[in-house]
Amino acid sequence: MRLSERQLAEFEVEGYLFLPEVFSPAEVGVLVGEVPGIFAQEREEVWREKDGKAVRTAFAAHTYNEAFRRLGRHPRLVEPVRQLLDGPVYMHQFKVNGKEAFDGDVWQWHQDYGTWSRDDLMPEARAMNVAVFLDPVTAFNGALMFIPRSHKGGVFEAGHDQLTTSYPLWTLDKATVTRLAEQGGIVAPTGPAGSMLVFHCNLVHASPGNISPWRRTIAYLSLCHVDNHIRRFKRPEWIAHRDFTPLESLADDCLLELAREAAVAE
Ligand code: SIN
Ligand code: MN
Repeated sequence: MRLSERQLAEFEVEGYLFLPEVFSPAEVGVLVGEVPGIFAQEREEVWREKDGKAVRTAFAAHTYNEAFRRLGRHPRLVEPVRQLLDGPVYMHQFKVNGKEAFDGDVWQWHQDYGTWSRDDLMPEARAMNVAVFLDPVTAFNGALMFIPRSHKGGVFEAGHDQLTTSYPLWTLDKATVTRLAEQGGIVAPTGPAGSMLVFHCNLVHASPGNISPWRRTIAYLSLCHVDNHIRRFKRPEWIAHRDFTPLESLADDCLLELAREAAVAE
């Protein structure tokens, strides 16, 4: 899947692209069917909310689940990012965020590159996120919020918040968020499962808690140009990966192929 000149220009200006229904319901079904089994696992990669129960994030699911391994090399995700970063990419981080019904907690305002530069010594902001909605994302279930154009300001000062949620994060202060939102506004792209978001690693973003009865599962690939790999290995390998091998993408029908293989095996 190649981005058009118009999409490339839109990304450059706004810092993100929203692409509705990139994956079909059947493809999303292959992934969603695996989520309960992943979330039920008691392993260090599966990070829970402060209640110790609801799953906040399953890190590195592509290393212990075949459907997510395929998603991690899916051409519809990898190729647009290769195009935007103008070269080969490796997987810096992979996560499936739960944002469970009633219990999914907030993600405070932050920039991902703020964490990657401070904690992992990633040299430059030549990395980005690509997200796939595994559930419909609505106004009610904790949609991701972006401040458009905020990726243009570099890395803003941040404080290391280790208290608000179960997951430590470099978060922006209220004055910075207010100033940026006065300039760029705030958007919260919503849409059906299978939709995709690509966003720059310096784009300021957050999401509110989910007090709705509908979960909001989103899978994220954080991809980085191979020349720009991290230089410090302070965080666990399953949070900040150390395999800088360029990603080779799989066939476009790799998720449906998995479903076909499963049907034959039955
Ligand atoms: C993130 O910023 O890494 C996650 C935000 C979310 O899933 O709502
Ligand atoms: Mn983030």
